[in-house]
Order: sequence, then C-alpha cells, then structure tokens
Amino acid sequence: MKFAVFASGNGSNFQALVETLKENYSVEFSFLFSDNKDAYVLERAEQLGIKPITMNPKNFENKTLYEEYLTKLCIEYDVDYILLAGYMRIVGETLLGAFPNRIVNIHPSLLPDFKGAHAIEDAFNAGVEKTGVTVHFVDNGVDTGPIIDQWEIDILSEDTLKSLEEKIHQIEHKIYPKVVKELAEQEE
Ligand code: GRF
Repeated sequence: MKFAVFASGNGSNFQALVETLKENYSVEFSFLFSDNKDAYVLERAEQLGIKPITMNPKNFENKTLYEEYLTKLCIEYDVDYILLAGYMRIVGETLLGAFPNRIVNIHPSLLPDFKGAHAIEDAFNAGVEKTGVTVHFVDNGVDTGPIIDQWEIDILSEDTLKSLEEKIHQIEHKIYPKVVKELAEQEE
C-alpha cells in the first residue's frame, strides 16, 4: 500500500511513521509533500530517504488548481492513501473527490472535543481531566470525519502545557503508525 504524507511544519509524526514502519513491507512512503518550502519536515524527508516535494499554493490562481496539482502528483505516484501530519490547510473538494475515504489526519485531542489548530492548549486551558489523540478520515468539515482510532490520556494536576504537549506527541508517534499499519494490512 502506498502512502503520501502531507505536512507543513516540524514533521515529528512523519518521522515516527517512516521509522516505525520502515521494515513493514505492506507500507511504502511514496513522497513527502510540504506546502511550506522552509518546513523542517523537508529536511527530515531527505535524511530518511523519502522524496521531498514542495510547492507554494500561491503559485496557483485558486485552491481547485492547487488541489488538481496535488491530485495529479498522487496519481502519478500511484498513491493509495494521503496521510496528513500537521498539514495546516483545509482539504478541499477537489482532493477529497479524488481520494474519498483515502485521506487520514491526526489531531491532538479527543474529537469531537477541541477541534482546530490549538487543541492541546485549548484542552489544557479548559481544565478537563482527560484529553488525547484522534486519527480520523478527512471529510469536508474541519476535524469532523469518521474516527478510526483514539487514545485517551489523563491530564494530571502536576501537568504543565509543555508536559502535556510532550505526552500527546509521544502518543501520536505510536498511534499513527499503528493505524497506518492496520490500513495497509487490511487490504492485502
Ligand atoms: C501534531 O500535533 C498533529 O496532531 C497536528 O499537528 C501536529 C504536527 O506535529 N495535526 P509534527 O509536525 O508532526 O511534529
């Protein structure tokens, strides 16, 4: 099964996916795409031996044309699934239409709670006792698609925002490779 990863920033999830699954013959990473040419994830891709591809969406007149470019790229590389890992854009109908139920995202909260770009901080500031990580299919909403897997963690009284972020990222780096492995093996 061939996977493309889309990421806009740091790329720790991308690295965890590649390192955890490198000996799994059902999983192949076709390329890493970033919409941000300065993203650290591009360096990680070079180091991990995965083809880095970057393109500025502003080079296109509109989102449809940008997503047509992405669709062509994924078709050219024969991609089965697109994995979003810190991809800071809302996926539009062009890409969704080309890959229905084939785009997956990881989100650092127990969805449907704390959607959006500041989920860890929002959960911490809300004073909830539990938060977690969700892996879900992408639909036309923001952080709303069908849930594939969730992992819950307690927020302890001694937790700081930083310690909570660290715990969440550690869990992300386990749950995303686990889900990808299951997706790949499910269709063999
Ligand atoms: C992760 O917390 C992920 O859940 C969210 O964006 C963050 C990306 O982190 N969607 P990284 O770039 O993988 O380090």
